[in-house]
Amino acid sequence: MFMDCHHIATIQHIRSFRSCPHATGPSMANGDRVRISRSTLAGRQPRHRRAFQVELTGRTWPAAALRESGEVYHSLFSGMPEGVALSEILYDERGEAHDYRILDVNPAYEAIFGVTRAEAVGNNGSELYGTGFLSYLETYARVVATGEPATFDFETTFRPAQRRSFTITALATGNGRFATVFEDITERKRFEQQFWQAQKMEEIGRLTAGVAHDFNNLLTPIIGYSDLVLDRVRDQPNITADIEEIKKAGERASQLTRQLLAFGRKQLLVPQVLDLNQVVGNLAKMLSRIVSEDIHVDIVAAPSLGRTKADPGQIEQLVINLVVNAHDAMPQGGTLTIETANAVLGPAFVRRHVGSQPGHYVSLVVKDTGCGMAPEVLAHVFEPFFTTKGPGKGTGLGLSMVYGLVKQSGGYIMVESSPGVGTTVTMYLPTVDDPVESAAAGPQCVQTLEGTETILLVEDDAGVCSLMRKVLERYSYTVLSTQDAGDAIAIDDSYRGAIHLLVTDMIMPGLSGPDLAQRIVRRRPAIKVLFVSGYRSREVIDLGVSSQNASFLQKPFRPETLATKVRECLDHHVG
Ligand SMILES: Nc1ncnc2c1ncn2[C@@H]1O[C@H](COP(=O)(O)OP(=O)(O)OP(=O)(O)O)[C@@H](O)[C@H]1O
Ligand SMILES: [Mg+2]
Repeated sequence: MFMDCHHIATIQHIRSFRSCPHATGPSMANGDRVRISRSTLAGRQPRHRRAFQVELTGRTWPAAALRESGEVYHSLFSGMPEGVALSEILYDERGEAHDYRILDVNPAYEAIFGVTRAEAVGNNGSELYGTGFLSYLETYARVVATGEPATFDFETTFRPAQRRSFTITALATGNGRFATVFEDITERKRFEQQFWQAQKMEEIGRLTAGVAHDFNNLLTPIIGYSDLVLDRVRDQPNITADIEEIKKAGERASQLTRQLLAFGRKQLLVPQVLDLNQVVGNLAKMLSRIVSEDIHVDIVAAPSLGRTKADPGQIEQLVINLVVNAHDAMPQGGTLTIETANAVLGPAFVRRHVGSQPGHYVSLVVKDTGCGMAPEVLAHVFEPFFTTKGPGKGTGLGLSMVYGLVKQSGGYIMVESSPGVGTTVTMYLPTVDDPVESAAAGPQCVQTLEGTETILLVEDDAGVCSLMRKVLERYSYTVLSTQDAGDAIAIDDSYRGAIHLLVTDMIMPGLSGPDLAQRIVRRRPAIKVLFVSGYRSREVIDLGVSSQNASFLQKPFRPETLATKVRECLDHHVG
């Protein structure tokens, strides 16, 4: 049965008028009043002996209006996107609520719970949904007793394949009855989770990049001094072997910090306009060395693929990481698909994917038919050091690096996975209109690493500064060095001879590397600049590598790399 609020109000009045023989009840919507009178009937049960005569005073209540009102409420009830159930509390002989009975449900409710109206109506909550569901009974009974509505969150487990979250509002409708309204909040919850996840990744990224930056300052002298000492003890094999070990450990650590910087979006990238099909095509040749024979590799390259701007070496590394993961997920073999496509991310996509931006992209998809991931694993895949692989089998940095690189390249990445079905990683990289650049010109062929030019070296880390000075002096340069940017300006002022190259750290207390460079370049326009940094900062993009006169060297570096880079800078003629 379906009741509208007028019926309910009338019934409530009937209850309150039990004690008086005649009373005038509530006004109806059209101003008519209800007259209620009590009469006593014969019967066994005292409560059955009483009956109420309810009559409308004034003009007769028009049947059509009543019907219309009922129809309006009924169409509202049936058409609501929220699931609604009308139920009544069942009390035991002690007057305590022990269950509730469903009186009516709307179509949205049928869809949520996967029951038909016929199955639900007339049945008790415990019969339909098990006694576990009675945990809500106390709330419903309180709502009915106090008339105060209650709201709480709830997750359906009736259809696990479509786990959904709801906010339930329970409202008293009078006479021991109540309505429960189920609002689907699954999408909102998913969005909130994505938001918190993005926030968390941002924080871990900052922390990671900070640690990696400081580590680079420590690793530079470890690797550098090992090299310097090795040169001096070449004739003492037992010492050489030990120092080689120190150097190897330093280099392994430096590999690790590079991955951390990649995750923190602070690695040095040399972006170039690329055709992803070309990158994937080049890689395809070496894939057979990564994946085993029982894995079928399918490469689907989109024709007329747009171009994107990214670091080709890093993109290759990214695809290799994903291919290795896919390979590990398919120990019994399967299919690995690498697919490129043009994609447009519209407002609907952006609304559903926190961190994505609308626009034109090229997509790169790496898909496997492997073991897939449970939602608990999927939620953590991008976090550094998260791995489910045994000790020595995975560091948990593969996807972190991929995530950082895609973000640093202005793109968006997502992973979809189902246990037993497989995993699909999709990356979107923004398209650019510029023509594809030819492969990056490799390091120029440097004839000799030695030089007689004068170098102004500014590096605030004492260990790194003295190492760099030693290295450069070994290659015969005249080195003016300082750990302080202010001193560097003083040296520049007072030095009467030519200074050919400024080698400066990017981030220093006081004046930053780019600011210092700007001031010195103003006075000595011919000076070349080499920025050195543990990580790539925004300034490098603004002033550093983009400037014709400047180059960039990432820490940690080997002495020979520093010497090569210095020689390259000095030999590079502007214009
Ligand atoms: N294609 C995939 N199928 C199933 N699980 C995957 C897949 N890719 C990643 N994972 C899960 O995500 C975890 C993290 O992956 P990630 O690449 O970051 O680290 P790793 O592969 O464990 O180690 P590393 O890449 O550093 O060698 C993996 O340990 C695995 O549990
Ligand atoms: Mg991996």
